[in-house]
Amino acid sequence: MTVLVDATEAAIALVERHAAHNYSPLPVVAASAEGAWITDIDGRRYLDCLAAYSAVNFGHRNPEITATAHAQLDAVTLVSRAFHSDRLGPFCTALAELCGKDMVLPMNSGAEAVESGLKVARKWGAEVKGVPAGRANIIVADNNFHGRTISIVSFSSDPVARRGFGPFTPGFRSVPFGDAAALAQAIDDDTVAVLLEPIQGEAGIIVPPDDYLPAVRALCAEHNVLMIADEIQSGLARTGYTFACDHWGVVPDIYLLGKALGGGVVPLSAVVADREILGVLHPGEHGSTFGGNPLAAAIGSTVVSLVARGEFQSRSAEMGAHLHQRLVELTGDGVVAVRGLGLWAGVDIDPALATGKEMSSRLAERGVLVKDTHGATLRFAPPLVITAQEIDWAVHQFAVALREAGS
Ligand SMILES: Cc1ncc(COP(=O)(O)O)c(C=O)c1O
Repeated sequence: MTVLVDATEAAIALVERHAAHNYSPLPVVAASAEGAWITDIDGRRYLDCLAAYSAVNFGHRNPEITATAHAQLDAVTLVSRAFHSDRLGPFCTALAELCGKDMVLPMNSGAEAVESGLKVARKWGAEVKGVPAGRANIIVADNNFHGRTISIVSFSSDPVARRGFGPFTPGFRSVPFGDAAALAQAIDDDTVAVLLEPIQGEAGIIVPPDDYLPAVRALCAEHNVLMIADEIQSGLARTGYTFACDHWGVVPDIYLLGKALGGGVVPLSAVVADREILGVLHPGEHGSTFGGNPLAAAIGSTVVSLVARGEFQSRSAEMGAHLHQRLVELTGDGVVAVRGLGLWAGVDIDPALATGKEMSSRLAERGVLVKDTHGATLRFAPPLVITAQEIDWAVHQFAVALREAGS
């Protein structure tokens, strides 16, 4: 007897069998994508309202980014940092300028940028601030998400991220996000840095009170502590400004960037800071074979030029206002709360109707891809090229899905 299996089922079965089960994806198998749309292996189309956690801010296969990638593939892709390439200097110069800083440390994944930022802060503490060896502490926020390495999960408050992975890296203190008084209390003479997401993404798009980040900035300056802003998910036009910190006129000492920096094509991340800070690194003290490779650097330069034009920030602000307005209209019809800035919305649904995961599945069946965060929260973070009509369509599908679930 022949059992007919569709392409989606077959593709998922292969992944289940041979890929580690460290994710629990929705049953959608992408085969191609363009702009804000993904087409699956069976020809179904979906409006992408996740944008690979903001890595595809400029749209799937953005033509300017893919043109750069194609051209660079025909030139040189990797030499390691043992030699120079003609692409690294222009990329670092452009990114430093975008950030208003002196220097760039190029890496690959977001977690690597965070790890690198922590190392830089500790070295700065030892060499510039004069913190005795082994005593440095770094303050983080409860419910943070900065990645998955051992050191990073060492200061996670998510038990699933930590269980079984000890022993952990010491030297971190966690305080409630949004509470400047708690932060002030935690700072001591050995504090070298405060590491924060300006808006907490994985925690559910949590926007802090308006006086929080300015207070963090002032406390860091007062106590000679580095303020590190993890803008890996919030940065590069996602919230309507170049950086989420810009909403409050705050300039951190160190920016951590990733995701969208690689244009949705390559992993590219960076630590960006002034010379007094990044200058603490000397040859042999830190590195990565692929960090700053010519392909990534060329793509990164194009991404920086797209961001420097400002149109994606304006688009995110304008379309974001529309998205938020449309989502807020569903309050009371299955939606409990809507948070966020720009094209980044965390939506709490009534937990009596469905979990976030169940609602994401219902939406995928209706052609809209979103991702749940914890519990009954959904995040909407579409590519910034999404149109008002597409937003209306996605929110309509959401309204129907909520009604089907019994709202
Ligand atoms: C704020 C933030 N920092 C760091 C990371 C880790 O990035 P990556 O998954 O590229 O290691 C993420 C990923 O979601 C993130 O949202």
